[in-house]
Amino acid sequence: MGSLNNYLSIADLERAALRRLPACVRGYVCGGTEDGQSLAESRRHFERLGFAPRGLRNVAQRSPAATLWGQTYSLPLGFAPTGFSAIVARDCDAALARIAREEQLPFIISGASTVPLERLQQENANRCWYQAYIPGDMDRVRPLLQRLRQAQIPVLVITIDTCVAANRENLQRLRFTVPFRFSLKLLLDGLMHPRWTLQVFLRTVLGEGIPRFSNLSHEMGPAITQEPPNGFRGGRDRLDWDCIRQIRELWDGKLVLKGVMHPDDARSAVAHGADAIIVSTHGGRQLDGCIAPLQALPEVCAAVPADFPVLIDGGFRRGTDVLKALALGARMVFTGRPQLFGAAIGGAEGIRRAVHIFRDEILTDMALLGCAALDEVDSGLLRRVGHPMAL
Ligand code: GLV
Repeated sequence: MGSLNNYLSIADLERAALRRLPACVRGYVCGGTEDGQSLAESRRHFERLGFAPRGLRNVAQRSPAATLWGQTYSLPLGFAPTGFSAIVARDCDAALARIAREEQLPFIISGASTVPLERLQQENANRCWYQAYIPGDMDRVRPLLQRLRQAQIPVLVITIDTCVAANRENLQRLRFTVPFRFSLKLLLDGLMHPRWTLQVFLRTVLGEGIPRFSNLSHEMGPAITQEPPNGFRGGRDRLDWDCIRQIRELWDGKLVLKGVMHPDDARSAVAHGADAIIVSTHGGRQLDGCIAPLQALPEVCAAVPADFPVLIDGGFRRGTDVLKALALGARMVFTGRPQLFGAAIGGAEGIRRAVHIFRDEILTDMALLGCAALDEVDSGLLRRVGHPMAL
């Protein structure tokens, strides 16, 4: 692996991870849907915004700490939910939970993760948020909420952009399916990536057995090679605001809606008692042809009360990307692929390296912007590239 400090940027980690991972895993982690427009657009929009930095502001004492619901995090950064991370690194969910605790960042367990959430809670000092793929069927939701309560999960994140399986053509071409099916193509792919086959695949399967759908519902599901009860996506197309209303009545913890891109949905989230929203296009993995989350952000922020937390994910690779989102009103930024690239290269320490790259960039970029604290990062510092006027 060499020294992880030799990876200077998230792009460095990505390049190295892509060499390490078989094509089907790369396709799963990096892919978008259909023509990949949502995925590309989420990155492109950062380039349309540029800073008008301030100077001479004495930035010797800087803090990138962010506060949400009275909890202070070391950075305005968190780990977005990423499903099936076990295919990137052995015991990856647990490593993410532990590094998030050690680095004081929020960590969202994916409903499609494979390490039981009760164990992840132990790794994360009972602070894990849990992201649910909720079916529009309260008889299945109630027992899940009960499991979350018992595990003392403080924050429930409901994803609203996955009512049906998206058209992931790249995965069909790679013969990558959920539930997983072994194929000759996968076998050959594995043989061409022996390090992954030995260190991730074989160590996982020989050590813990085939990973399971551990966190999809109220009970431990079957191995990821089998169809979970009610299917992986069963009933999600019936989820609606009435379910959110009922869940709000039953759930005393924080409630976050993820995948909010339209200001009317943002207003509705506030009206239904949500505690925050995440502006997101699911990493470009659901509806193709979406605008970037960063483009949706100002309109969404304008639709909710000023102190209502608006969080965001989608395409963040640089400290400057994070600061642009904060300037447009986001309270915190979540990343998915960057920490998986780190995990693919160096397990838990690779995840930490990804966090430290963001941390160092944010600290440097805050100074160069003339900001000592994150609340000084506002839209007055941003311009549309190519436009003479303020935003
Ligand atoms: C899981 O949420 C995925 O996007 O594959």
